[in-house]
Amino acid sequence: MASTVFITGAGKGLGLEFARQYAQAGWRVIATCRAPDKSSELQALGVETHPLDVADFDAVSALAKTLRGTPIDLLLSNAAQFGEAQDFGQVDMEDWATVLRVDVMAPLALAQSFVDHVAQSPGRVMAFLSSRMGSIADNGSGGFYIYRTAKTALNMLVKNLAVDLEPRGIVAVALHPGWVKTDMGGPNAPLEPPVSVAGLRTVLSRITDRDTGKFYGYDGVEIPW
Ligand SMILES: NC(=O)c1ccc[n+]([C@@H]2O[C@H](COP(=O)([O-])OP(=O)(O)OC[C@H]3O[C@@H](n4cnc5c(N)ncnc54)[C@H](OP(=O)(O)O)[C@@H]3O)[C@@H](O)[C@H]2O)c1
Repeated sequence: MASTVFITGAGKGLGLEFARQYAQAGWRVIATCRAPDKSSELQALGVETHPLDVADFDAVSALAKTLRGTPIDLLLSNAAQFGEAQDFGQVDMEDWATVLRVDVMAPLALAQSFVDHVAQSPGRVMAFLSSRMGSIADNGSGGFYIYRTAKTALNMLVKNLAVDLEPRGIVAVALHPGWVKTDMGGPNAPLEPPVSVAGLRTVLSRITDRDTGKFYGYDGVEIPW
């Protein structure tokens, strides 16, 4: 039977590319985004779509109920926001709260709502798109208060899930896609989405129980927390 991947933020960027590549590889793709009807590229893939604003926790839980009984081999938490003004002295607190809700609280809401779907699949992987910018060990340049703190908190969330879900045989990993040419990465990014996603899919295809609670780049290299 084909494996199933569930993706958030699949209307554009890396989420859309994940949907495209997994569909091409013969997976059942459950693609979610805020406005599926507005993404002609997603519609063109012909995959199953559901509208989902991940910051609406009731909606996350309702979709999990709609999909009750559907095993999900790979839960891919991809949707995120970067934040606006975030240099020291300029951080917009309301914007920070919004980003923390989307980038940290929503991934936990997703994991809590879909844990049974993942546990009942053969794959049993939860993968979270993080960023090297969330690595405390790697931070040599400061700034970016909103995005960095959100991804650092997400990394702790992943480590926690790895511990708490180990008895259910679920593997949780954090992933860094590289600096990729998307709306978030901007036009100067060196990587194209197909390259990043192909690399991440290879990483994910090699994941075993021993990898739970780890942080990997798209090139398969482990990143220090
Ligand atoms: N690009 C890079 O260089 C880079 C580097 C490191 C990590 N990442 C991570 O990779 C992931 C994908 O980023 P990307 O580069 O593809 O960025 P992107 O092109 O800006 O896409 C972000 C996606 O998140 C969705 N999203 C935002 N808020 C949402 C919400 N409340 N509910 C549902 N979806 C929401 C967006 O949907 P809408 O279309 O509805 O806005 C969009 O689909 C993110 O987790 C990002 O932090 C990216």
